[in-house]
Amino acid sequence: MPAAHSTSTLTIEVKRGELLSDGERRNIVALCSLAYDEDMEQVLRTFADPTHVLGSCDGLLVSHALWITRFLQPGHLPPLRTAYVEAVATHPAWRRRGFAAAVMRRLVAEVQDFDLAALSPADGSYYARLGWEAWQGPLFIRTQEGLQPSPDDEEVMIFRLPRTPPLDLTQPLSAEWREGELW
Ligand SMILES: CC(C)(COP(=O)(O)OP(=O)(O)OC[C@H]1O[C@@H](n2cnc3c(N)ncnc32)[C@H](O)[C@@H]1OP(=O)(O)O)[C@@H](O)C(=O)NCCC(=O)NCCS
Repeated sequence: MPAAHSTSTLTIEVKRGELLSDGERRNIVALCSLAYDEDMEQVLRTFADPTHVLGSCDGLLVSHALWITRFLQPGHLPPLRTAYVEAVATHPAWRRRGFAAAVMRRLVAEVQDFDLAALSPADGSYYARLGWEAWQGPLFIRTQEGLQPSPDDEEVMIFRLPRTPPLDLTQPLSAEWREGELW
């Protein structure tokens, strides 16, 4: 386990999943598994063509997030090309230093050419302070059989980007079906 030093600075790197070395991939799995207290190997495998934001201190991976592309459709708007954020994690020994916030800010800076950014939060108040907004309307998953309503306790937050059209957050919001967690 890395020793945490308050003076350590965070170095952030952005890397496509397909360009990760085996060692980097193992470090991401280990960090996310520790942070989420479950084996995240299979979960991370389900994300198609991810791009990782890697926060390191003294060469050790201590904070992480990734985005994948999804198509979220608010109300009657066309589907929006969305950077969908997953696996936000900071090593327990390196928390409360603003590392996840720095990783999330960098992620938002990297996805400026998307139509929207979105995520499903464990703790929405954390992301609200970073400028993310809770979707208030009902959530649906698009399937071959039509729209499937998501459970009421499912939460989605969005971040408006330069290309984001005017949004009414009380409208229905849908995403395509995917393997694993639907949101
Ligand atoms: C959620 C998580 C990623 C946050 O990581 P982090 O690097 O500690 O995040 P930050 O440092 O940016 O912010 C965490 C808190 O520290 C506070 N903080 C930030 N910089 C600080 C500093 N220099 N000194 C003291 N506190 C600070 C923030 O205000 C925030 O406060 P809050 O807990 O009241 O919201 C981390 O706790 C984690 O990995 N949790 C388990 C996995 C998880 O739940 N992921 C999110 C799923 S959506």
